[in-house]
Amino acid sequence: MFFDPRQDNGGLPHSPFKALVAPRPIGWISTRSAEGVANLAPYSFFNAVASRPDMVMFSSAGWKDSVENIRATGEFACNYVGRDMIAGMNASSAEVGPQVSEFDLAGLEMAECRMIAAPRVKAAPAALECRVAKIFEIEDADGNASGHFMVIGQVVGIHIDDAYIRNGRFDAAAAGPVTRLGYMDYGHLGEMFELFRPRLPESADKPAHQG
Ligand SMILES: Cc1cc2nc3c(=O)[nH]c(=O)nc-3n(C[C@H](O)[C@H](O)[C@H](O)COP(=O)(O)O)c2cc1C
Repeated sequence: MFFDPRQDNGGLPHSPFKALVAPRPIGWISTRSAEGVANLAPYSFFNAVASRPDMVMFSSAGWKDSVENIRATGEFACNYVGRDMIAGMNASSAEVGPQVSEFDLAGLEMAECRMIAAPRVKAAPAALECRVAKIFEIEDADGNASGHFMVIGQVVGIHIDDAYIRNGRFDAAAAGPVTRLGYMDYGHLGEMFELFRPRLPESADKPAHQG
């Protein structure tokens, strides 16, 4: 089948777009408002976008509390959603006003960050402390405003629960990242395997790229 998603869903009951760009990691974004209220919300339009400097992004459909808090304070943390965090993550997605802390709503304990004033989720296997680099409204291919706002941040601190360090590496299999698929579907990490990139003789004098 083929269809133009600007027109319709090609006869399908729901748009398959998010199922086609999946699995997506969930950025569980914690912030503090200008008034000092802690805020927590999951964002699956989230990913790493660069390393050295380590940069992440998330995008918000509309100007949500997380974005406003980051505009106001310049800081946020991305908490890792491990398999034990599913209920708390979902509870924190409730659409409540900026005066309500989703930490309280979801019954989640906060921990202090080191480099930023925003809190983090104490029980999360890991968290990235970030300073905002840019917030902008995404434009479509015709230059029209989309109503979606992208936040890009630089990682200035990394917390990892020592229980998830094994042989000097972060043990993703133990932490169990929860991923977002399409529709109301979520996924767990499947089988892991290692793969090394080819290194051709003629590329020996070229710089080795990461990734
Ligand atoms: C797994 C999951 C992923 C989500 N991803 C996004 C997203 O990428 N962008 C978005 O705008 N909302 C997303 N939401 C909805 C927000 O979490 C929800 O609107 C939340 O109330 C926003 O909180 P805030 O206003 O405190 O920032 C997601 C919800 C869930 C449960």
